[in-house]
Amino acid sequence: MKFDTPATKNPIDRLAVVGQPVDRIDGPLKTTGTARYAYEHHDAVAHPAYGYVVGAGIAKGTIRSMDLADAKASPGVLAIVTADNAGPLGKGDKNTALLLGGPKIEHYHQAIALVVAESFEQARSAARRIHVDYAREPGAFDLARARDSAVKPGTGKPDSAVGDFDGAFAAAAVKLDATYTTPDQSHAMMEPHASTALWDGDKLVIWTSNQMVAWGVADVAKTLGIPKEKVHLMSPFIGGGFGGKLFVRADAILAALGARAAKRPVKVALPRPLMFNNTTHRPATIQRIRLGATREGKLTAIAHESWSGDLPGGKPETAVDQTRLLYAGANRMTALRLAELDLAEANAMRAPGEAPGLMALEIAIDEMAQKLGIDPIQFRIANDTQVDPEHPERPFSKRRLIDCLNVGAEKFGWKARNPRPASTRDGRWLAGLGVAAAFRNNLVTKSGARVRLGKDGIVTVETDMTDIGTGSYTIIAQTAAEMMGVPLHRVVVRLGDSDYPVSSGSGGQWGGNSSTAGVYAACTKLREAVVAKLGLAGEAEFVDGRVRAGGRDVALADAAKGGELVAEDAMEYGDLAERYQQSTFGAHFVEVRVDAATGETRVKRMLAVCAAGRILNPKTARSQVIGAMTMGVGAALSEHLVVDRNAGFFVNHDLAGYEVPVHADIPHLDVVFLDETDPMSSPMKAKGIAELGICGVAAAVANAIHHATGIRVRDYPITLDKLL
Ligand code: MOS
Repeated sequence: MKFDTPATKNPIDRLAVVGQPVDRIDGPLKTTGTARYAYEHHDAVAHPAYGYVVGAGIAKGTIRSMDLADAKASPGVLAIVTADNAGPLGKGDKNTALLLGGPKIEHYHQAIALVVAESFEQARSAARRIHVDYAREPGAFDLARARDSAVKPGTGKPDSAVGDFDGAFAAAAVKLDATYTTPDQSHAMMEPHASTALWDGDKLVIWTSNQMVAWGVADVAKTLGIPKEKVHLMSPFIGGGFGGKLFVRADAILAALGARAAKRPVKVALPRPLMFNNTTHRPATIQRIRLGATREGKLTAIAHESWSGDLPGGKPETAVDQTRLLYAGANRMTALRLAELDLAEANAMRAPGEAPGLMALEIAIDEMAQKLGIDPIQFRIANDTQVDPEHPERPFSKRRLIDCLNVGAEKFGWKARNPRPASTRDGRWLAGLGVAAAFRNNLVTKSGARVRLGKDGIVTVETDMTDIGTGSYTIIAQTAAEMMGVPLHRVVVRLGDSDYPVSSGSGGQWGGNSSTAGVYAACTKLREAVVAKLGLAGEAEFVDGRVRAGGRDVALADAAKGGELVAEDAMEYGDLAERYQQSTFGAHFVEVRVDAATGETRVKRMLAVCAAGRILNPKTARSQVIGAMTMGVGAALSEHLVVDRNAGFFVNHDLAGYEVPVHADIPHLDVVFLDETDPMSSPMKAKGIAELGICGVAAAVANAIHHATGIRVRDYPITLDKLL
């Protein structure tokens, strides 16, 4: 099915099941421990062996020699896989560094060996008896120092320029020129990267915790040099991804190689201390923002430049994306610069681009409003645009940023705020309120599904879509229930299996709308098959487990009496996304208290108002947003991978040193969804929400801290030392 004209009324609009705040259908499986994660397929895998990954002890250089004798002689050891004995390996399309390194070492903790043993403990113990002699080479690890060598990246978007920024900035009555920094960050999801692999003849069967099943199949096949048809990859449950599991990692490739070498099923999980340097992370940025405005508060000049680093062949953090679209202004430019760094691979983390970009831009907007003496909400409203500022002929499909700001201001009690910084005291605490706009693009991507109608009237959906904790199982079930007119408990959803039709997968907040649109397409076909089978004529209505058409009223299950009905289709997209700019909008409000003596910041209240098309399930959507708000507080106040600039690794590579918020750090969180449908996004009229929730949060915290203290911190995280 092709979606190329705006959606009109369709069966989803009934909203009998879709749009309802139903509980997760996979909730009981998770809370009772019966959901099987990648490392837990005990029932399907007899007598697994255990693999332990050895990470490189240097950041750059070569392995001169590797002495495996002691390790091989250790109790229980079945095999040791290294680049020397693994046979020829390719490189997947989605990773920059090799997933099994050696003799060349590209980054610290790059996998250089897998020890396979009868037990996990034996594998770990033997791994420590591998003796490696390295030839270390100097590397580049410091973005600030590498900044001058940064170049326009060969991949990614080109620089943008509209009007005459330099002239307009020079002539502007009020100017801001400020530089902001965001640190390297880690996804730090609960479930580590983990895989279980076995070989069935020349066919690889692998469970791996992965957001994108089809990408995973392609990269596993390419790396191992086997046809894609020989890879059966499954990822039915995932304990968090945040972008860190968009691509297969060393655990998957090494589990496959270990299973081949040991002739046994092999399980590999990355130990937590290995994850931070072995896998991907959100790279640090340096961002320079220049704004020029009239005294009345109209932006006339906007420039945003961002520097980030990655391994040779890597990509920039696209931190300027939102600046091209968020505010009006006739003269504008953006640029991305990429430096070569020898740190672990940089890649996507929740709202790549916008999340770190807004951390800078939305402080800059606050600073400019302050210079102008204009309320920061009014300043944003005055510079709203309903068209793509670079292409004025291109409207936004829906853009309700102003509503988000106004609704939030009213609900949060913004009017009572004294605009003067450091003006409000609450005992030993300095009190402040901050606001920031939220913006994240809405991506749509082709997504397929198969739907079965059984003799018993049960509707079964199969798609390789994943549920990374987001609620995919539930919204897909709601979609199928609505389309086929059956209650939710009559729908079975099967996800995360490469035997099923290729879906959008989970990433870039495209999964919710795209995957359900694919289910819509398959259900549309199944409805046609049902109508044909029952010999009905005219417009058919599917409700209450029945089909009504042309004066007849038949049980849905009757259509499958002679055998199961199966339909498969995918939703594909025309050029609507080019003709209309599709984005999601929001406003974040934060109240903080800063300890006048210690500089400690506590977040007291938070509110997010979101406009993101139809909300398919307000309960799972709210969970996404409060999770993202929590992550935004981490970005504002604590998350920081500290780089050892000599040795070239992230020092705090565990959850004791890499600080994410805990329950005691997070107050009550309020979320409001504006009632909205976006007919340009898909027949679901929904958009993404899971990444919008983090976008702007850290800046709202920073702006609240400034309001509380009068101190403008431009370098994240805002730790107490920066406030004293
Ligand atoms: Mo997202 S960072 O594309 O999983």
